[in-house]
Amino acid sequence: MRLTSWRRTRALLATVGLGALGLTGCARYPQSTFSPAGVVAKVQLELFDLGLWVVIPIGLLVIGLLIYILARFSARKGDDELPPQIEGNHKLEVGWTVAFVLILAVLTVPNLRDTFYVAAPPAQAADVMQVTVTGHQWWWAFDYPTQHVVTANEMHIPTGRPIELNLKSADVIHAFWVPELAGKVDLIPGRTNHMWIQAKKPGVYYGQCAEFCGTGHADMRLVVVAQAPAAFQRWAAHMADPHYGTPATALAKEGQQLFLKTEPCSACHTVASTSAKGVIGPNLTGIGSRMYIGAGTFRNTNANLALWLHDPGAIKPGAKMPNLHLKPGQIQALVAYLRGLK
Ligand code: CUA
Repeated sequence: MRLTSWRRTRALLATVGLGALGLTGCARYPQSTFSPAGVVAKVQLELFDLGLWVVIPIGLLVIGLLIYILARFSARKGDDELPPQIEGNHKLEVGWTVAFVLILAVLTVPNLRDTFYVAAPPAQAADVMQVTVTGHQWWWAFDYPTQHVVTANEMHIPTGRPIELNLKSADVIHAFWVPELAGKVDLIPGRTNHMWIQAKKPGVYYGQCAEFCGTGHADMRLVVVAQAPAAFQRWAAHMADPHYGTPATALAKEGQQLFLKTEPCSACHTVASTSAKGVIGPNLTGIGSRMYIGAGTFRNTNANLALWLHDPGAIKPGAKMPNLHLKPGQIQALVAYLRGLK
């Protein structure tokens, strides 16, 4: 009887264990530091793991000893004599000093090594691609000086190549954080911080601002699209194409007129190869092919873009783009134009 119930318990435990394993294995948490997809994130995770495996046994040892000593040496009833007083034990003193020096060395050496590794890209300077990242309330600007491309909220990078990010801020302190690629680094007004990332495989990696920066902080997100080098080159060349984004339909043409002439859109936004050269809001070159709008907040669909144009602040609290009180027909035309900018 007892055996049967033990078997049942064991079966139950196995099911729960396998279930838990299955859940952790199948579910994808796109902003987890425990699923590194970049070389920097991997080094950082390994450092974390090392620390964990060093401190867990120490913690167990200390707690175990504490419990043992409390149980073994507590004062008993009628035990009112002072225990013998001793002072210092050379063997113990030397033992735990040496032990902790060794433990600290085990932690310090890799920490120092990886601090230098993470601080600057390892490859030759010519191989490192530069991207200037500027944090704005509440969106991201990405400037590729070599490729002559500027984009917003969706950063494309080639795989297998170190990318140096030069981090700046246009207003307050933000923090760039794409957990699968690297730990967070602050963007501070008046200075340039540096970090580097390198994606191993093509994919979409999600990130967000990790420093409270005002009303729209929670909606200051981004995606990094890592592509095979050839695909990245195609993307960059397409973005820099001077004939980029010619309206294909009459409605889109009407939208372009509104964007460039009738409405104040071009005072804040740039669209490459047009007269729109504003730099207050996100650069909209390639907006039609981005996955999201509103800095990673909404899927880029006709319906969401129409909602955004109707009243940005209503769907993204704090958004600095004003409500232009556009008429439904104008919104339709602008949606057609912007979604066509692929
Ligand atoms: Cu930018 Cu929080």
